[in-house]
Amino acid sequence: MCRRAMRARRDCRLTKSFAASGVCFSARARRSFLSVVRKRARQRSLLARRRRLTRSAFFAEGVCGIKRSLREIHGTVECLHCKPTAKGLPERAEGFYASVMARKKRALITGVTGQDGSYLVELLLAKDYEVYGLVRRSSVQSFERIGHVLARVHLLSGDLLDERSLVTALEEAQPTEVYNLAAQSFVKASWDQAVLTGEVTALGVTRLLNAIKTVDPSIRFYQASSSEMFGNTPHSPQNEDTPFYPRSPYGVAKVYGHWITVNYRESYNLFAVSGILFNHEGPRRGLEFVTRKISDGVARIKLGLARELRLGNLEAKRDWGFAGDYCTAMWLMLQQPEPRDYVVGTGRTHSVREFAAAAFREVGLDWRKYVKVDRSFLRPAEVHRLVADPRRVRSELGWKPSVSFRELVSLMVRADLRRLQPPEVVLVGERRSAARR
Ligand code: NAP
Ligand code: GDD
Repeated sequence: MCRRAMRARRDCRLTKSFAASGVCFSARARRSFLSVVRKRARQRSLLARRRRLTRSAFFAEGVCGIKRSLREIHGTVECLHCKPTAKGLPERAEGFYASVMARKKRALITGVTGQDGSYLVELLLAKDYEVYGLVRRSSVQSFERIGHVLARVHLLSGDLLDERSLVTALEEAQPTEVYNLAAQSFVKASWDQAVLTGEVTALGVTRLLNAIKTVDPSIRFYQASSSEMFGNTPHSPQNEDTPFYPRSPYGVAKVYGHWITVNYRESYNLFAVSGILFNHEGPRRGLEFVTRKISDGVARIKLGLARELRLGNLEAKRDWGFAGDYCTAMWLMLQQPEPRDYVVGTGRTHSVREFAAAAFREVGLDWRKYVKVDRSFLRPAEVHRLVADPRRVRSELGWKPSVSFRELVSLMVRADLRRLQPPEVVLVGERRSAARR
């Protein structure tokens, strides 16, 4: 049935019920009654349509346009693009919706040069995102981890210490999602640089949230929170409701970053989530962290480049997973209809001793012959045991780790062996001279 016929039928039904009500029914009254009814119906359908459009745009795309003010679907704040005007809404809204759908998602990653940044870039590029990375100025730029994707990432200069630079970066990138991975992330260094750690890892989060609030409050925000926040908690395993008891300036700073994220979500209705991630590692891990220090040390000893490996507390236990898997969890958190915090980990814990033993075993060596305990690597306050209770992330996001502890150790040791192996040309030369002999 065409629209006109439908309208006639509706009018007919309405006038009948009007007449049945026994009210005086002059032609004029009928006309004015119908005009009111039509107007109301039109308003209702426009409203429904607007809600449908903004809801689908919001949920399917995670955005509602380039310059948007929509945060609430049910009308506390209206979307400028979809607001009805005297000339009518549907075409504008439809056009806007089409433009939203046609738009590529855009992500800004702070800490893009770090371990997680590099895996996240790969993930987002594979999902056809336009990726922007924030890099801080340095006299020597190291893009070691993202060298292979550098041509496909837009780098923007900025620093978590400088709010203005964050505003400029956001205006330039116009992201739909922001992943805040930047931090002074080495726990041991946080005692030596406690104030700097607080400035970057804690207050840096507030600066970035402020910048988002100023530039575009509909941006979805991910905060890289840490299991280090649980510190000395007596509760085990740790989940989203476990109380925090941080044991380092780094842990304290991360607790601040976590709560300011929650607070801005609750105060300003931002889509801001905190991912409480347990230790995640891989061949791109910084050499100062214990897993990489071990895999690098084992490879050096195996290749005759070192004789021993000096470590601190061998009894500390961590829930170690593969960093690539954890970046998938970050992304999943920003695709949900509602912002929520998640604990991400494997649910299994191993000691530093076990990691070292497994790494040496990988190359056929006995760790006891090479590992020496060095008190200079002990910390003023230690986090003895961490293990995740990842039930929420599993049930709600369907996330689970794809790399086991053994596989992680093996892939890290093998990667370091490959990296440190003498170049192939030497081997060929050696083979030739061996053949001559
Ligand atoms: P990472 O390798 O140490 O990377 C840190 C990144 O932050 C680097 O790109 C660094 O840039 C950048 N950065 C440092 N200070 C900055 C500043 N003032 N302004 C802008 N950028 C700055 O750390 P990650 O292992 O990838 O971890 C990523 C995030 O997750 C961190 O926030 C970390 O605290 C958190 N986290 C990590 C784990 C884990 O097990 N990996 C677990 C829980 C939470 P430069 O290259 O210039 O130094
Ligand atoms: N770095 C290091 N070097 N740690 C050692 C050593 C050593 O020689 N020997 C023993 N350890 C012990 C530490 O005392 C700690 O208990 C454990 O190994 C892990 O240390 P790191 O690898 O430095 O990691 P972390 O757990 O302190 O911090 C990492 O994980 C956090 C999540 O829980 C970092 O990535 C943080 O940024 C992250 O938030």
